[in-house]
Amino acid sequence: MKRILIQLDTDARPSVFDRVVAVDAGCEQLFSYGGITPENVVPLIHGAIFTRGPQDLKSTAIFVGGSQSDAGEAVLKKITESFFGPFRVSVMLDANGSNTTAAAAVQSVTHHLELNGAEAVVLGGTGPVGFRAAQLLALSGATVRVASRVLERAETACSKLRGLVEGAKVIPAEASDDGLAATLDGAQVLISAGAAGVRFLTADEWRSLDTLKVLVDLNAVPPAGLEGVEPTDKGIERDGVICYGAIGVGGFKMKIHKAAIERLFAANDQIFNTVTIHEIASELS
Ligand SMILES: NC(=O)c1ccc[n+]([C@@H]2O[C@H](COP(=O)([O-])OP(=O)(O)OC[C@H]3O[C@@H](n4cnc5c(N)ncnc54)[C@H](OP(=O)(O)O)[C@@H]3O)[C@@H](O)[C@H]2O)c1
Repeated sequence: MKRILIQLDTDARPSVFDRVVAVDAGCEQLFSYGGITPENVVPLIHGAIFTRGPQDLKSTAIFVGGSQSDAGEAVLKKITESFFGPFRVSVMLDANGSNTTAAAAVQSVTHHLELNGAEAVVLGGTGPVGFRAAQLLALSGATVRVASRVLERAETACSKLRGLVEGAKVIPAEASDDGLAATLDGAQVLISAGAAGVRFLTADEWRSLDTLKVLVDLNAVPPAGLEGVEPTDKGIERDGVICYGAIGVGGFKMKIHKAAIERLFAANDQIFNTVTIHEIASELS
């Protein structure tokens, strides 16, 4: 039975990046659809679940992607609501690479520091990647300061995180110049997940944080989000702090993405979201 991956992209044109990874992950047939919404996805799901017998449905799987993570979440919800009884296939959600990137970043930190009880800061914590990194840090038992330029946005993100992670220790924090020093005070882990090309800290600023043990800068577009961190840094020690750059994390992110696609075909009832993709990352590292 040939392995078919059905790529459902919320953007008008299905992502070339996701198509290449699907092929590299060994998919024998790739069906790609763009412009997917909760309103138009159900007939496609019926096409997936009513064509092969229940015992063969594990050879069909779905990948949900696109540049908008909220749109991807909404499509995933509609897909899972469309399944019933044995009529289901495995699904992976990785809109804009947010789940695989967050998993790679957080898992990289765990090589150097026990997250349970750690003090962590996520700059750009309201974005798709930063929010998911904050979710995984909170799930691991860290206290997480979720930083935004607008405190209200950080509060909204924290409230959503409390709904996702029972007992989450998340604190809204300011990423603006005025509030940044208080946000960073006492941080052991720093994940910089701002928009591409946004610099949050100079090298002197992060070097002056005595408590800092590990940092990750996910921004690959110059200037670096954290000055002095090279994109290729992968567990490099700089001034007593273990550093990861965007490319240093990116190789692991690709490994996670490919492994998750491969594992979709192990059964017909798996949902690979932020948490389950992080579980795969933990097994791989
Ligand atoms: N290494 C990899 O493999 C990989 C993969 C995917 C993504 N990435 C990178 O990961 C980072 C995060 O991705 P994303 O999609 O989550 O980013 P995003 O949505 O574009 O931005 C994240 C957050 O940055 C803040 N922000 C936006 N413009 C800003 C500005 N001018 N100054 C300060 N803060 C600003 C916003 O928060 P507030 O408005 O709340 O302040 C926003 O929610 C990006 O740099 C992206 O390129 C890396």
